[in-house]
Amino acid sequence: MKIAPSVLACDFSRLGEESLAMEAAGADLLHLDVMDGHFVPNISFGAPVIKSLRPRLSIPFDVHLMISEPLRYARDFLQAGADYITFHIESDSPVEKTIETIRQGGAKPGLVLKPVTEAQAVFPYLDQIDMVLVMTVEPGFGGQAFMEHMMSKVRAIREEIDRRGLSVLLEVDGGIDEITGPIAARAGADVFVAGSSLFKQKDYAAAVKNLRERCAGALSPQG
Ligand code: DX5
Ligand code: ZN
Repeated sequence: MKIAPSVLACDFSRLGEESLAMEAAGADLLHLDVMDGHFVPNISFGAPVIKSLRPRLSIPFDVHLMISEPLRYARDFLQAGADYITFHIESDSPVEKTIETIRQGGAKPGLVLKPVTEAQAVFPYLDQIDMVLVMTVEPGFGGQAFMEHMMSKVRAIREEIDRRGLSVLLEVDGGIDEITGPIAARAGADVFVAGSSLFKQKDYAAAVKNLRERCAGALSPQG
């Protein structure tokens, strides 16, 4: 069970310190939400910001591209030091070419599905990617309510990953907290993005540990 704090929910005037604090708190990945104001109706930050953070941190960077042309900008995010680069299957870029470009650039490619997109859309690419990200809110903003009906999609993708014996990570993003994380864990998720639910707490180490334990605990017989 991996916890990926989304810095979208932090105080951007203290982005470096807040990211370091989450790393020190035991986060497994740092989730970085890139929005272009076109694919989604919001603008966040881009490759230069990620590049400036990279030398200050050692945890893997999980870069979630909510942009219309991920292929066009893939090189920038590779050079910025992204470890995982996930992009939307609904974007305008050719899927296989974008996956290949990310892989050849030395990062781990992943595909993201908006709530409207069905599980089966990702099946043809499962053996070419390292991660599937199922959105549990409409992409674009932090602090929205978890869509529990996305769990059938998580279950369907988990079944297909296991059926084919793949080791693809299955990530959920949007409205994840200590109540909804365990629901997603039971459906088969193993990476949990959390923005507002983590950053609103004072003790980040306790918050990360608690979320990880709740998610892992959901799979025990008592969970
Ligand atoms: C939404 C982003 C999320 C967002 C999650 O478009 O992809 O990563 O930061 O924020 P919370 O956890 O507050 O829903
Ligand atoms: Zn995200």
